[in-house]
Amino acid sequence: MRVVRDLAELQEARAVRCAAGGSLGLVPTMGTLHRGHLELVKAAQRHADQVAVSIFVNPLQFGPTEDLSRYPRDEIGDLEKLRIAGCDLVWMPPVAAMYPSGAATTIDVGGPAVGFEGTARPGHFRGVATVCTKLFQQTGANVAVFGEKDWQQLKVVRRVVTDLDMAVRIIGHATVRENDGLAFSSRNARLSSDQRVLAPQLAQVMRDAARDLVSGALPDAVLAAAQTRLRATGFMPHYLVLVEPDTLRAWPQNRRGEARLLAAAQLGDVRMLDNMAVRLPG
Ligand code: PAJ
Repeated sequence: MRVVRDLAELQEARAVRCAAGGSLGLVPTMGTLHRGHLELVKAAQRHADQVAVSIFVNPLQFGPTEDLSRYPRDEIGDLEKLRIAGCDLVWMPPVAAMYPSGAATTIDVGGPAVGFEGTARPGHFRGVATVCTKLFQQTGANVAVFGEKDWQQLKVVRRVVTDLDMAVRIIGHATVRENDGLAFSSRNARLSSDQRVLAPQLAQVMRDAARDLVSGALPDAVLAAAQTRLRATGFMPHYLVLVEPDTLRAWPQNRRGEARLLAAAQLGDVRMLDNMAVRLPG
């Protein structure tokens, strides 16, 4: 496994790979890798000859009130996990390599970037879109794998790739969960032991809401009841909505078909996200 921290070295590795003719799969991450990330690596291995993982805590996607310096880091642990997973290349640029002084270009996304996380974290998706575009350019990846865990992010990245005619193919991977249903997330480490016991209730309440919707109950009533239940459990719900899966527009009343249930809820000072598919009956 080659660990690269320098753009010139990355480009040299790319030239070697291009000469050999194989395809490259990229898994962009911010490190502190958990099972969710490692499943994306396995998926990338199924779709490409070689797999690169980027580890870069992207300052551009953190708001002024979000503490970038508190983002967890575990370089030694991450490299060991990636080595065991059979990753071929790790791209870990320093901030100055990603954003040299004078850098003045960012990518602003409308459509699926509007609302939800886009409202809660102004500028967040500008940062995500910009860094992902740069990562695709730098690595020359043929495919890139993203988790459905961050549903809105996946839709934003797909939008950017389509709108800017990029050659990379985006693959979405199902959310990887603990046995109790909690989605793996680097934020879970910030939960106290009491909060960790409550945390799977977010997915549980959403699963119950999805089941009620599938059996034909009215969305407004189901979503209101689910929010009440989350509050009673100790969560502070930020949103719990039914949306059109690709555009993230509000799901029209009485429409049938595949919708997405999106939620953000605060437990203590941890903002948790989850989402799931819901097929509404006709
Ligand atoms: P990060 O939070 O490290 O996540 C990296 C990738 O892992 C994302 O595609 C995310 O959706 C996926 N992921 C996280 N938890 C998952 C889970 N439980 N199951 C499946 N996939 C999961 O998301 C980012 O970093 C950044 O915004 C990034 C895309 C790297 C841009 O900086």
